[in-house]
Amino acid sequence: MIKIWTDGTEAGLTDRLRERGSTFVYAQTAAPERAVSVTMPVRLQSWDTAFGLAPVFEMNLPEGVLRERIRLAFAKATGVFDEFDLLTIVGRSQVGRIRYTGVDDALDEAVPFQSVDEVLASRRGSNLYRDLLERFATSSGISGVQPKVLIRDEGDSRTLTDAGKRISPSYRGATHIVKFWEPNEFPELAANEFFCLKVAEHCGLDVPRYRLSEDRTALVVDRFDLRPDGTYRGFEDFCVLNARRTDEKYRGSYETSVLKRFGQFVSAEKMSGESEKLFTLIALNCAIRNGNAHLKNFGICYDDVLGEAWLAPVYDLVTTTVCMPNDNMALTLNGTIHWPAMKDLQRLGETRAFTSAAVIRRILERIADALADVTVELADFSREYPAFAPIGERMIEQWEIGSRSLRGA
Ligand SMILES: Nc1ncnc2c1ncn2[C@@H]1O[C@H](COP(=O)(O)OP(=O)(O)OP(=O)(O)O)[C@@H](O)[C@H]1O
Ligand SMILES: [Mg+2]
Repeated sequence: MIKIWTDGTEAGLTDRLRERGSTFVYAQTAAPERAVSVTMPVRLQSWDTAFGLAPVFEMNLPEGVLRERIRLAFAKATGVFDEFDLLTIVGRSQVGRIRYTGVDDALDEAVPFQSVDEVLASRRGSNLYRDLLERFATSSGISGVQPKVLIRDEGDSRTLTDAGKRISPSYRGATHIVKFWEPNEFPELAANEFFCLKVAEHCGLDVPRYRLSEDRTALVVDRFDLRPDGTYRGFEDFCVLNARRTDEKYRGSYETSVLKRFGQFVSAEKMSGESEKLFTLIALNCAIRNGNAHLKNFGICYDDVLGEAWLAPVYDLVTTTVCMPNDNMALTLNGTIHWPAMKDLQRLGETRAFTSAAVIRRILERIADALADVTVELADFSREYPAFAPIGERMIEQWEIGSRSLRGA
């Protein structure tokens, strides 16, 4: 049995149910604002899931390398290893506002200290990747296939502090995400993502601070769910909003599973501005040829689960076609996963983001301009770092193709 906490207060219990499922029950004392998800209001009746954990509890379970690493370390002791076991291990330190402990345990989120500057100054050939995985794997309640850890450097982030004030020392949770890459799988992924995030920034989208290590082996991103006082806001990805499991993240369409679904959870007053942002992000993913814009790569944030929600800041943008030239979109648009033409995006904006043709034109032009601006920086970077140049050149080629399609060419 696992105890579940929201915003540092007890919310309820979850346990295995029958062969492969689970059940979650709110504590008798749970107030409505203790809800674990915008999709799971507080109620007397239990919330049962036929297979595995409820989507919101599964949301931050590590995938890929990190999951495998934890499994190898712990499966030996227990023999078997399922999602419950994984949640027990990484549950105390998670993205968002939910935490998990044993039934009788107190909440203790202390994550070891790690200087961000040290990560950024990393030298090729150092053991940083291995060391960080070793030290932070069990406090990294974060999803995703690429290797990554959550670390804590609460003195670092300018974006988190008002007038240089530090986060209260009583909060010891993680502040940054460090993402690595496997050279034989996705070479130069950190720099790839760095420049894609830069395009998003040029488009006027909200992007958390992101930095590339000197040797390009790591991308350090500030947590956007961390508040200046050291507590965390709510975050839910679109797998949760669609009541899907993680392994269904490639199932759905941009029309229904993303834009329409977003409309059900975003506050009415924010609707028009936020859906324009979401439309911009979808069009941007097409323009940079990101074939990995699946349901877990979009999310919403909120301060109060019963209050206003807005589009989460941008994360995980990559030009995937540099390594997989035939890659397609992760979800369908207009019934297909082929990269859209300008008219397809125009239709999407008009019918699903309720935006005027003139606004859509401006959005698409802004994306094309952002690509052109960042292409100049990317070309300079490729000249400065010849080892990166083959990837940089391919990114530029892909962005040119994407850019042409935005202009209707
Ligand atoms: N800046 C951030 N602040 C808080 N949470 C974040 C941030 N960036 C990403 N996340 C969360 O961490 C998860 C994993 O991050 P990300 O998508 O960048 O990893 P990935 O391994 O590249 O993912 P994928 O499996 O889609 O390739 C995201 O789905 C999101 O839930
Ligand atoms: Mg991702």
